[in-house]
Amino acid sequence: MKDIIIVGIETSCDETSVAVVKNGREILSNIISSQVDIHQEYGGVVPEIASRKHVELIIPVIDKAIKEAGIAINQVDVIGVTYGPGLVGTLLVGISAAKALAFALDKPLVGVNHIEGHIAANYLEHKELEPPFICLVASGGHSHIVVVESYVDFKIIGRTRDDAAGEAFDKVARAIGLGYPGGPLIDKMARRGRKDAIIFPRTYFNDGSLDFSFSGLKTAVINYINQQDQYREGKGESLPLEDIAASFQQAVVDMLVNNTLEAAKRQNMKRIALAGGVASNSMLREEIMRLAKENGMEVYYPRPLLCTDNAAMIACAAYYAYLDGIVSDFSLNAVPGLKAGEKGEMP
Ligand code: KG4
Ligand code: ZN
Repeated sequence: MKDIIIVGIETSCDETSVAVVKNGREILSNIISSQVDIHQEYGGVVPEIASRKHVELIIPVIDKAIKEAGIAINQVDVIGVTYGPGLVGTLLVGISAAKALAFALDKPLVGVNHIEGHIAANYLEHKELEPPFICLVASGGHSHIVVVESYVDFKIIGRTRDDAAGEAFDKVARAIGLGYPGGPLIDKMARRGRKDAIIFPRTYFNDGSLDFSFSGLKTAVINYINQQDQYREGKGESLPLEDIAASFQQAVVDMLVNNTLEAAKRQNMKRIALAGGVASNSMLREEIMRLAKENGMEVYYPRPLLCTDNAAMIACAAYYAYLDGIVSDFSLNAVPGLKAGEKGEMP
């Protein structure tokens, strides 16, 4: 069979990323230009600034990805692009660039769901991994438990009812005076703390649902900090930030791991994959590996670079969609609130 070379484009949030992937699983290039330094100043992503930055970066990043892949632009077979969920202005930059490429090269365009892209990152890392499996997708924007039934069929059986897991990490990080994005900083700080120092609440629903809720935990941490601040100020003591980070992280990890393992048991699945930025969390990886082993299950996760937003995962998802006959037309539009497994307005 002839090789299929896919260019993936990802601009759903604050990374401008373009990748070239061969036959769905071989990364020829994966350029990620992060705007983190710019948004750090504001403590989070500013959509208007992000869109403008994508406009500046998209063409140079496409050029770099093609060059690094060592291919000529006319060797590209398919263009895959994230069309949702994400920020409408930033998504439109990627979609416009993808349409221009597809039109100029006269090659098919495939709109990719960003969440399905995160799941596909596991295929790039683990060449032998095939559906079906359970995937925990936890990032700054979403926390889902997904039954990956095939390369193109997804069923969500658990979702957050309020904040996403990464959002909770970012908000708690801000409360304890760490920078943005908070997840990696809490992960690092927690290594020096006691995870059983403070018992923060875990939320489970008693209606049998595998949904998540992180806002109660976030509020409990913030209340704890305020109370302790007043109490310790009088005595000239400082806050035990390492213990707060470790205890908070343990609470998030408990909820993520327990619901994911329960999902695997209910679905009779022996394989669990992790995806999204929070999948790089070291405690999450350790805990789920340990408990999965006890239950005779296997765990897969991508290296940190493929957990956070990148275009190689989008190219991989586009490959499997394309093989399944999913192609978009030039009316492809941004769908900011697109859900996993949902085809949205388009394609
Ligand atoms: O997947 P991603 O790059 O972007 C979204 O699609 O949202 O995820 C970013 C999120 C941020 O909230 C960040 O704090 C979190 O992933 N994150 C982590 C870690 N690395 C990134 N959270 C916990 N532990 C980490 N090591
Ligand atoms: Zn993402």
